Amino acid sequence: MMNNDMELINALTETLKNSPSNIPLRKHLAQLLLKAGRFEEAEQELRQVLVHIPDDIEIKISLADTFFHLDKISMAVVMVEELMKLDYLPANFFLLAVQIFLKAGETKQATRAYLKAIKLDKSLINKELEKDLEINRQILSEVDDQIPRDRIPLPVNDIPDGPDFVLERSEIKFADVGGMDNLKEQIQMKIIYPITHPEIFKAYKKEIGGGILLYGPPGCGKTYFARATAGEVNAYFISVGIHDVLDMYIGQSENNLHDLFQLARGNVPCVLFFDEVDALGAKRSDLRHGGGSQLINQFLSELDGVDSSNTGVLILAATNAPWHLDSAFRRPGRFDRVIFVPPPDQAARMAILQIMLKDKPTKNIDFQKVAQKTEHFSGADLRAVVDQAIEKKLHDALKSGVPAPLTTDDLLKVIKNIKPTTKEWFATARNYALYSNQSGIYDDILAYLKV
Ligand SMILES: Nc1ncnc2c1ncn2[C@@H]1O[C@H](COP(=O)(O)OP(=O)(O)OP(=O)(O)O)[C@@H](O)[C@H]1O
Ligand SMILES: [Mg+2]
Repeated sequence: MMNNDMELINALTETLKNSPSNIPLRKHLAQLLLKAGRFEEAEQELRQVLVHIPDDIEIKISLADTFFHLDKISMAVVMVEELMKLDYLPANFFLLAVQIFLKAGETKQATRAYLKAIKLDKSLINKELEKDLEINRQILSEVDDQIPRDRIPLPVNDIPDGPDFVLERSEIKFADVGGMDNLKEQIQMKIIYPITHPEIFKAYKKEIGGGILLYGPPGCGKTYFARATAGEVNAYFISVGIHDVLDMYIGQSENNLHDLFQLARGNVPCVLFFDEVDALGAKRSDLRHGGGSQLINQFLSELDGVDSSNTGVLILAATNAPWHLDSAFRRPGRFDRVIFVPPPDQAARMAILQIMLKDKPTKNIDFQKVAQKTEHFSGADLRAVVDQAIEKKLHDALKSGVPAPLTTDDLLKVIKNIKPTTKEWFATARNYALYSNQSGIYDDILAYLKV
């Protein structure tokens, strides 16, 4: 990695000799220099770039970072204070601000920045740092009078106002998802490579963007998969139920929606996931008279990145009822890929069961057999099978005092009493696929049903 960076720095420096006004390249070089710890050179490049794009937040943050490392603390402070006037900043920026303010002896400012950082991203909570900041109830109530002075315990849970949505870190990756190989591949190309190889996409001037809409019967892993995508690339995850957006202070929703997208844009890479997105489309006609259509237009223009670019924001959505979604959502650059997430096939069911039983005491489970006996089961149905079998085992163990491992028979017994939940969905989906299948968008459903 380090060596690669060195080579890249040299190559970029050479290229810039021939085309000194290529600002994106210079920006890239500056950030590599910063990463490589070559701070003097980084400062030089960053200053040059800033002349051309004076409002670039990333550059300003990098410059503050560089000043900090060069021990030019008062300059770093000025830069940070300037940035703090802006509304949308990455969570990581606030951690940098903490360090800078601390070094400048501005403890209160540092504390304020720290509170902002952890409000945005709880995983940034850092007990060591809290010690350095001497964070206690006293200080907290001084920097923010919303925090009562006299209540213990300390802070985090009652941090004052911030955005209504939070950045999460996903605890699962693709390895935790059984099957869905086709989807994993598509996501690689559309979402993962643009993050891991941004320079290649830039070189081909390939615009990164547009969202992916997942649809299918309940419990087949749409939500689970979206979360795993974030984990796979170590991106932030923001999950939004469309109802959250709709219900939020009627009339204010457009602002909230903009805040939400800005939160994502400020914290790339980030998976922004809209669950049950059909609600938005379904309500479009009802709401047309009220403020609803405005909300939808706002949503569409945020998707289009009209005011600000969505680069690095990976937009996923899921629905059980894609037919309720307004076709405006499916135009190029919006949810231009619509992917069917079917119930797991036999191989996928095997993989899912193996994942679910990974850390459980089992004995010679015949996964093939269990997978065979669970046709039409969703991932959630399989989860229910495993949970019930384990529960039964636990019950027996408590009675006999001897814990016994789970067997194939235990699972098969439970399966007999569980009805797969996907069939009902297909009864409805079939009709839409047969009679409302514009441009073959539901062909996958027909293929699955072998119609
Ligand atoms: N491919 C899979 N691999 C592992 N676990 C899975 C898989 N698919 C589903 N599951 C399990 O089933 C649960 C339910 O899946 P999930 O909530 O993602 O379904 P969904 O498609 O979003 O359903 P809904 O349409 O009802 O929102 C998950 O939490 C997970 O435990
Ligand atoms: Mg879901």
